[in-house]
Parts: sequence; C-alpha cells; structure tokens
Amino acid sequence: HGTSKINADGHLEIGGCDVTELKKQYGTPLYIVDEELVRTRCREYVDAFRASGLKFQVAYASKAFCVMAMCRIAEEEDMSLDVVSDGELFTALQAGFPAKRIHFHGNNKTVEEMEMAIDAGIGCFVVDNFVELHVLESVAAEKKVKVNILLRVTPGVEAHTHEYISTGQTDSKFGFDIGNGSAFEAVKAAAAQEHLELLGVHSHIGSQIFEVDGFQMAVQRVAEFAKSVKEQLGVQFKVVNLGGGFGIRYVEGDTPLEVSQYVKAITDAVKTHFAEWGSELPEIWVEPGRSIVGDAGTTLYTVGTSKDIPGVRKYVAVDGGMTDNPRPALYESKYEAMLANRANDKPEETVSIAGKCCESGDMLIWDAELPKVNNGDLLAVSCTGAYNYSMASNYNRIRKPAVVFVNQGQSDLVVRRESLQDIIGHDVIPERIAKQA
Ligand code: LLP
Repeated sequence: HGTSKINADGHLEIGGCDVTELKKQYGTPLYIVDEELVRTRCREYVDAFRASGLKFQVAYASKAFCVMAMCRIAEEEDMSLDVVSDGELFTALQAGFPAKRIHFHGNNKTVEEMEMAIDAGIGCFVVDNFVELHVLESVAAEKKVKVNILLRVTPGVEAHTHEYISTGQTDSKFGFDIGNGSAFEAVKAAAAQEHLELLGVHSHIGSQIFEVDGFQMAVQRVAEFAKSVKEQLGVQFKVVNLGGGFGIRYVEGDTPLEVSQYVKAITDAVKTHFAEWGSELPEIWVEPGRSIVGDAGTTLYTVGTSKDIPGVRKYVAVDGGMTDNPRPALYESKYEAMLANRANDKPEETVSIAGKCCESGDMLIWDAELPKVNNGDLLAVSCTGAYNYSMASNYNRIRKPAVVFVNQGQSDLVVRRESLQDIIGHDVIPERIAKQA
C-alpha cells in the first residue's frame, strides 16, 4: 500500500527507497515513514470536509506521532493540531506550527502548561473537568486575557474497541457526562466565567473504530445536548469537535472504511441532527491521529537469533521489540511482517517474532507465515506509524530507533537514533555516592 512495492532486486521499497539501503545508511531498528502517504491521508480529510460544505478544522492528534517534521507536514497540509502536554506543545511551537491552530487537550493540565499555552496564544483549550474550568479561569484572569474553550463531554457511546482505548462511555476518566447532567452544569459554569469564551463541545468516543454508527450516535447525542443548552441556557455552540478514532487496517480481517466515508457519515449526521439550526450550523472539528500516520509507518528490524522448540513453536528474535512497539504487549495488537530483503520468497514456516527485552511478553507477532528466516535478514513490520515511536521506551536501556521520512527516492532523518550517551544523559551520581567509589 502507499508507495510500497517490491523492486527488481526482490527488496521492499518505500517512497522509492530500497530498505536494504536504508539499513546500510541508518541502521536498524528503523522507523520508516512514507511521507506521501501521510500527506495523502491529510488531504483525504481536508478534501472530504471541503466537499461537505460545512465549516471545519481537521486537527492532527499529535499523540500518535509527534516530532517536529511531522508538525511541519500537518501545517503544510492545512491541518490544525491537537496537543496534550507541554512536550507536544513545545514540539509544535518549535516547529513553527501556528499557535492559533493548536488545541490543548488532557484531563490534568498543570498551571504551568496552561500559562505556556496562553502565552503562546493557542487557539483553544479543551476543558475536561470542573477543577480545570476554575483553575483555567483564574490563570486567564491573572493574565487578563480571554481564552477559547470547548468542554469535553462523554456522550454515553461505547465504541467497539479495546477497553483501554474507548472513552465515550459514562465510566471514563475523561470529560463531563451528558447523561447525569454534569455537562449541563459545566456549560452553565463556563458561561459564567469572565475569562473563558465557550466555543462549544468536544466528544471523543474511542480509537481504532471501524463502524460509523458510534460517530453518528455521538453526533445525535451532542445535537440533543446542544439543543437543550440553547433552549434552557441561551448558549449556542459555534463548534462541535467529534474527536478522532477512525480505524485503519493492521492485518487481514480489519475492515476500516475510507477516510471520505467516515467524514461523510459525520457531516451527513451533522446536517440531519442540526437541521433546525439552518444557516447557523456549528463548525465541525475532528482529530484523527492513527488514520493519518498509522499505515504510513514501517519498522525495519534485523533478525538475530532464533529458537526452535520442536512440536511447539519457533521464536525468531529481532533487534527491537516492545521498546519500539509496545502495542502487542499492551493491547494484544496484531501486526503483519514481511521478509524485506527477499520479499518475493514464498512463505515456508510459521514463526513468532520476539523482541530483545528481558520479558516473555516482549513479542511483536505470534505465528507469522514467513519464508525461511536467517540471521541477518531484514524484517519489515507494517502499519507502525501511529503510537509506536510516540509510546517507545528505554526499557532495558535500549536506545530509541531513528525515524526517517522517505519520498520519491529520497530519505531524510527526522529523529536521530539515540546514542549510548543519550541513555545516561539525564543520570546524576550524587556527590555522597560518588565519594564512596
Ligand atoms: N482526540 C482525542 C481526545 C483522543 O484522546 C485521541 C486518542 C485522538 C483524538 C486520536 O485518536 P485516533 O484517531 O488516533 O484513534 N495508544 C493507543 C491509542 C490511544 C488513543 C488515545 N486518544 C493505541 O496505541 O492504540
């Protein structure tokens, strides 16, 4: 998919770059990002919204993969940006991302983060709870400014996805519940604050969702809520943010829709459920993360050791693992792999791909059908663009891999590989202990 293909040498090629060459140049493990595919996904969202005729913003959820080069691409592709920490905010600002198009999320923003975001002049805060509402009001008052906010509401929709990544239900750490009246109270409280400008509401129902019905139901619940708020409090929402969560295909059997189909389902639902608002239809914002970068990423590994347990299983170990991709261990996520240096070879054996961490759960793929794999072969795991680099760790003091963007035969480093010096870069030996040595 994307610009990936098998070249005349039988090697995997992405963005016109032979991965065996990338290995020589950058080493492994290596995150390879198909830049053209990322841009295509951004455009699919923007184009589909333009076609709807609604006012909109597509905010890239930077948590999926947040590095400065990616922020540049989001900027160039007319996206807004969703950040959830000072680290993501700093990355975006340093990359020159326009502050006005940044939305700040999170259920526990610190005062320092609020101040930093206000000073930078970000477009909007997504307020998660009553404590934040009041703290933000006082921070804004202190600075004598008025800040735009959305209120995060939980519409009571349970999307069919992994429990840890579903968020729209009542029992969630996020947001004001519509069902129990807390969202209504939040609107009242927000409208009463002098330094907060309530633009509207935000709802995010979960991640890696395939069906449109959850989104449609969320639109309906939010529309009903918006109506009651308008009638009873005289507050009219100018913005409705429907979050992210659009699924992608990781393995056979995953059945996501096209980006344009998700967008159409949402914009149609908005036109239906907000019909009586006539010319005052709210602006619609969405926040895709995974579906922007997920399938554009491939992780390239070098095969090291293997262990054949006759009649049980064969383990093949690669030079990365849960440190660069914790998703299989965390969510039992499934991935596909291919032999990247002999991509035309037919599958010959069933092997399980292990990482190199001191932990039995450090497995990337169970039961992959692959050609005979030898020490030194290159293994490519696809669809690792989202929540891999961004969730990578230094467990076992393993260094985080480099990230390269590939496009039309050119490869560019966007994150350099961590060095051993980086690994100890923040360590301090206190004087008292050093003395004893
Ligand atoms: N907006 C909000 C408020 C979110 O919480 C999220 C994801 C998104 C947008 C983007 O959702 P996406 O389009 O990427 O599905 N680490 C997990 C995913 C956690 C998602 C958290 N929030 C994983 O690796 O699957």
